[in-house]
Amino acid sequence: MASPRVALSLDGPVAHLVLDRPEARNAFDGGMVRELTDAVGAVSARDDVRVLVLAGRGSVFCAGADLEWMRKAGSFTREENLDDARALFELYNAIDRSPKAVVASVQGAALGGGAGLVATADIVVAEGGARFGFTEVRLGLVPAVISPFVVRKIGASAARELFLTGERFTAAKAAAIGLVHHVVPVDDLDAAVDERVGELLRAAPGAVAAAKGLVRSVSGPPVESLRELVCRLIAERRASEEGREGLRSFLENRDPPWVRAVKR
Ligand code: COA
Repeated sequence: MASPRVALSLDGPVAHLVLDRPEARNAFDGGMVRELTDAVGAVSARDDVRVLVLAGRGSVFCAGADLEWMRKAGSFTREENLDDARALFELYNAIDRSPKAVVASVQGAALGGGAGLVATADIVVAEGGARFGFTEVRLGLVPAVISPFVVRKIGASAARELFLTGERFTAAKAAAIGLVHHVVPVDDLDAAVDERVGELLRAAPGAVAAAKGLVRSVSGPPVESLRELVCRLIAERRASEEGREGLRSFLENRDPPWVRAVKR
């Protein structure tokens, strides 16, 4: 079995879940998605844990889906490709539905599926130099699986611009659109996260879980109703000619054809 790429530790009522694949900027593949989902499930089931802090080891919080994994999934059978997308959806849903308050601590970058993780957290603290982006369209893909969680956070207007351009944006902009709650100097990141955790620990655990469920209930139809639609979309995209070409171009470190076509 591959060595774990996720580290889970407990500090009294606070669980720390750390993406631990810094050499690939914490990009996650199918195995890592399972590890993360299991860890979130384990934390959610514990009565002694009240807050989950989500972080990434190294220079970058999370570079999103592992693009080699995405490329391989594009050549799976349709059913395998769909199952793979459903497993990813379950990770975001597990964080979103967790009765624990989830705080994300973001340094460096949160891109694609990494920005999706940020969107599922209840409180997000980012260092001022962090960059965000829903970069999928630049790879011929779409931010499908994360979209139900992201659009609830940032709204359709911001999503229309950022999903369609795939551009990277600053922590200040992320805060302006509601993806991030607090932007702090990099040296203050841990202290700012601790301060947020302190505020959460003053709230009654049952009431926190109920308040989280309340926000979910009043902010739109259940995300589960969108699962098949978004999973079909990413499965089709990564098997499409554009998706295959975009992923191949990233992995071969060259511009995709639609960029080469307009480059002067
Ligand atoms: N999937 C697979 N591997 C990835 C990856 C991803 N999403 N993101 C980074 N890596 C790998 C790189 O290929 C590189 O591998 P190598 O050392 O074997 O060459 C390693 O991680 C370091 O990446 P590098 O780009 O050199 O690091 P950096 O610190 O300069 O930049 C990022 C970090 C996150 C800004 C940059 O890696 C990036 O933009 N990645 C793509 C993110 C993206 O578009 N994700 C969307 C997924 S849907």
